[in-house]
Amino acid sequence: MPDKPRLLVIGSANMDLVVTAERVPRRGETLSGGEFKMVPGGKGANQAVACARLGAETHFVGRIGADAFGETLRQGYEREGLRIEHLVTDPDAPTGIAMIIVDADGDNSIVVAPGANKRCLPADLEPLEAVLDEVHCLVLQLEIPLDTVRAALRMGRERGVTTILDAGPPRALPPEVVALVDVISPNETEAEALLGRSIADVASAEAGARRLLQMGAAAAVMKLGAWGAVVATPDEVSHIRAQRVEAVDTTAAGDAFTAAMAVALAEGQSLREAVEIAVCAGALAVTVFGAQPSLPTREKLAEFCQDRGCRASLSP
Ligand code: RIB
Repeated sequence: MPDKPRLLVIGSANMDLVVTAERVPRRGETLSGGEFKMVPGGKGANQAVACARLGAETHFVGRIGADAFGETLRQGYEREGLRIEHLVTDPDAPTGIAMIIVDADGDNSIVVAPGANKRCLPADLEPLEAVLDEVHCLVLQLEIPLDTVRAALRMGRERGVTTILDAGPPRALPPEVVALVDVISPNETEAEALLGRSIADVASAEAGARRLLQMGAAAAVMKLGAWGAVVATPDEVSHIRAQRVEAVDTTAAGDAFTAAMAVALAEGQSLREAVEIAVCAGALAVTVFGAQPSLPTREKLAEFCQDRGCRASLSP
């Protein structure tokens, strides 16, 4: 491996409460589902854990509650080797939870009760100056307050750190936030919320990615699931094909994608190479049930990239 990449991930931590069912219930309907499982999740924590499994020294900053879920999550982060010196345990709010239904096709429907994540405020960033001086990439998502995301992006920009914004969950963003981002990465529904237009195929995704550049992002990467991904920079817009796999559960596939892209960029790979690797990471995550259990290790990802004849890879 090249010099160990160093990343800072700031974002949400949830305990996922997951039930499998044939389909999502209709309004007012009660369905009998499958097994219930509690699985560590949250977009921020998923991306931090994925970065660590891919070999990066990873700082994770966010908020959990002083409760049993928070304690379980914290122990998990310690086992994964995350740097959590600046993870706050909030005495006045519960740990965030996500209620997830996974249907027979492996697709999910999610409702999040943010709890402590909502109280991850700009003041939580004050101790991070020294960390930002050390890292290659700063990775954010939109499951914590927007003011915090904006403040973190500003701090990253001021220090010349590559800023990556996974634009989930869906919401519109003020142009000044988009302009602070080096790589913005929405999926289709997130892109629709950002752009106010529908993403129905690769061509509309390419047009949407170009529009994100006009809004001020230095680069845009659209995560398109079964259609692969679109990469847009001022020099070129290109489409990368999906890796076909048997879908078990799509939860956290986007998180695996963003993390792999961030680690590859931190190691000095080009954006196009990073996205080819990220497509493989997302595909692997779809083959395993649950958020954090599905995030691939560096070895597993390198093996998959090789098996699929992918030109880019993380070194094993
Ligand atoms: O991206 C997947 C995650 O979204 C889940 O783990 C859930 O916690 C929600 O935050």
